[in-house]
Amino acid sequence: MLNDLLALMADGRFHSGERLGAQMGVSRAAIWKVLSRLEKQGFPIQRVRGKGYRIPANAVLLDLPQIRGSLPKSLQDAWEWHLSQQIDSTNAQAQRLLQLDGPKRLICLSEQQLAGRGRRGRVWASPFAQNIYLSVVEPFEGGAQALEGLSLVVGLALVEALEEAGYRGCNLKWPNDVLLEGKKLAGILVELSGDFTSECVVVMGVGVNVLMRNESLELGQPWTSLLMSGQKQQLDRNRLIAGFLSHLADSLRLFKRDGFAPFVARWEQRDAWRNRAVRVIAGDQVQEGISRGVTDRGALRLVSTQGETHINGGEVSLRLNDAS
Ligand code: BTN
Repeated sequence: MLNDLLALMADGRFHSGERLGAQMGVSRAAIWKVLSRLEKQGFPIQRVRGKGYRIPANAVLLDLPQIRGSLPKSLQDAWEWHLSQQIDSTNAQAQRLLQLDGPKRLICLSEQQLAGRGRRGRVWASPFAQNIYLSVVEPFEGGAQALEGLSLVVGLALVEALEEAGYRGCNLKWPNDVLLEGKKLAGILVELSGDFTSECVVVMGVGVNVLMRNESLELGQPWTSLLMSGQKQQLDRNRLIAGFLSHLADSLRLFKRDGFAPFVARWEQRDAWRNRAVRVIAGDQVQEGISRGVTDRGALRLVSTQGETHINGGEVSLRLNDAS
């Protein structure tokens, strides 16, 4: 029912409960009940007396045929697809499927995560039907070494897809945060499974804040969503996912052949903190310097009075040292 109801409201206009009820063949009270439950979960519904209910245009549920139909033909059968309404974590689900079936190209999507995982043991906020929670599984040859820079490639594919969808002001914070107007919009969690010396399988987990707008939600750093940006561009998660997957598939092809080097210029063009004073924190170790972009293996180039150091991703975090 929810699926059809949101599809009826996808034009972004006000709809009276009465008319929605008539269209769906249920009572006005039934419509109110469904929309109230959704609203309690944080879904952006506007309710105005005398006008009815309104949701942002195209704020519909995930739909696999729609996503696949928006992909180029060559990619429509490229993955095995799994869509859940609720899951612990799409990355965890992908790992379980890999254990059961062995290496294969998979996509796991969910409307909600109950234990969404962020980097460095953090929790990833994953409310129902508001954001993108996506894991892409890809087998790689050449062991863990062949994966240097991969998480930067995933972030870049996402920014390029958002730019194509019309969003302005998206950029990248090393190693793999996506920022919109300086606030965190999306995060990437790359996890490995298999034999790290020869063939390994990579789970690329991507979380994008699309419709989430609960300002009181404390996520440990300033955050935003596509809806909160007010840019009035595409909010249909199905189309955004398809756009991202086609950029990612192209990028993975190039990355498998030539590594990170061909991506350096594109990544640096969108580097949020290029030439800024930063500190890199790894456990209780802190290194300070100026961020000067990335190497052709995706390491951060940190320049200090002692010279240039190259820092690899992983369990490190980057903070600004200057206030501007
Ligand atoms: C970060 O901390 O910035 C990384 C966040 C990654 C979140 C995504 S949501 C889909 C996938 N499943 C998870 O449990 N985490 C990743």
